[in-house]
Amino acid sequence: MPGVFGLELSSVLLLLIVTLCVILLVRSWLEVPQNIPPFPVRPLPIVGHIPHMVDPRRKLMEWRKTTGDLFSVYFGSTLVVVISSYDLLRETLVKQGEYFSHRHVGGILPVLNKPEGIVGSSGEVWKEHRILTLNLLRSFGMGKHEMAENIIEEVSAYLSEISKVSGEPLDPKDLTSRSASNVICRFLIGKRFEYDDPAYARLVEIYENFVDLAKSSGLLHWFPNLKYLPGDLFFHKKLINNFAEFTEFSRKRIQDVINNENQDCKEENFIASYLKEMKKREASGKLTHLSTDNLNLCMSDLLSAGTDTTTTTLLWFYLYMVHYPNVQDKVGPALNYK
Ligand code: HEM
Repeated sequence: MPGVFGLELSSVLLLLIVTLCVILLVRSWLEVPQNIPPFPVRPLPIVGHIPHMVDPRRKLMEWRKTTGDLFSVYFGSTLVVVISSYDLLRETLVKQGEYFSHRHVGGILPVLNKPEGIVGSSGEVWKEHRILTLNLLRSFGMGKHEMAENIIEEVSAYLSEISKVSGEPLDPKDLTSRSASNVICRFLIGKRFEYDDPAYARLVEIYENFVDLAKSSGLLHWFPNLKYLPGDLFFHKKLINNFAEFTEFSRKRIQDVINNENQDCKEENFIASYLKEMKKREASGKLTHLSTDNLNLCMSDLLSAGTDTTTTTLLWFYLYMVHYPNVQDKVGPALNYK
């Protein structure tokens, strides 16, 4: 094949492409936008500040000291503005909430599904679902006596299960998450499950795994195209399968309510109330984002967001109580206070 300076044409082309890429990279590195808060250190091409994020919490606290309460970092090509002080947070999210209430619907969320539901949505879809969910939680007694009664009932089932081990060591993680999730299930579908029900145990395992997978698939958040690499290095396939199994549970429960087959669910529940509200809004002719798909995602959001947080909080509480018996002596009587 004829060439240039004795090089084959294909090598010349490759050299040109590599040179062009290097020029573009250096240019993007030199061209830092001027109208954004300062960087703690200069971002690297393509990866931005990601190489500094081995221990993000510590790094961000360190940069707060050197750069101030407002600074910019790049996660890959995504600009993230870090706000650290109470006053600045209030100024942006409360006083100027109108301009700052939209959320970055990025990361693994679009990799999994459409940006809908509560946790993974923004704008009008998010607003409508957040308001409706809060209203329904309140109408089902959140923060009031009714919800407390449900929780107390669940706590007695939990304590009676713990008492069965009679002094033997116990890892309370699974039992605690099944119990925390039962309180949410009661709100969502109007019933609790027995702790040894295998289908229920699997459900809780799925969304516990989901939270772990979401944490481990960190790079997929900023570089979604990594999902096309062969193998499953960044847990993309595992996440998809896990999420599908998760939403299948909610889909079946919604279908049961639509087919009027949830006879074992005696209590009023989120699914039935959501569907009622959806029909009402559709009949009024007003634009609504309520749909069975969104209902499914809301259920998954509430189950995953509510179970992992409550379980982790309780497990830390137990650990502290074990390590500080003198505090435990004070907490016991305080909890029994009527
Ligand atoms: C100790 C328990 C909990 C902790 C520490 C916790 C913490 C948080 C935090 C820090 C956020 C982000 C705040 C925001 O985006 O506005 C959040 C959001 C959320 N939490 Fe919780 N949470 C707990 C329990 C629950 C429970 C029991 C549920 C469900 C019944 C729940 C459902 C949600 C939902 C749906 C969101 C997303 C809200 C949105 O995107 O607008 N959480 N939670």
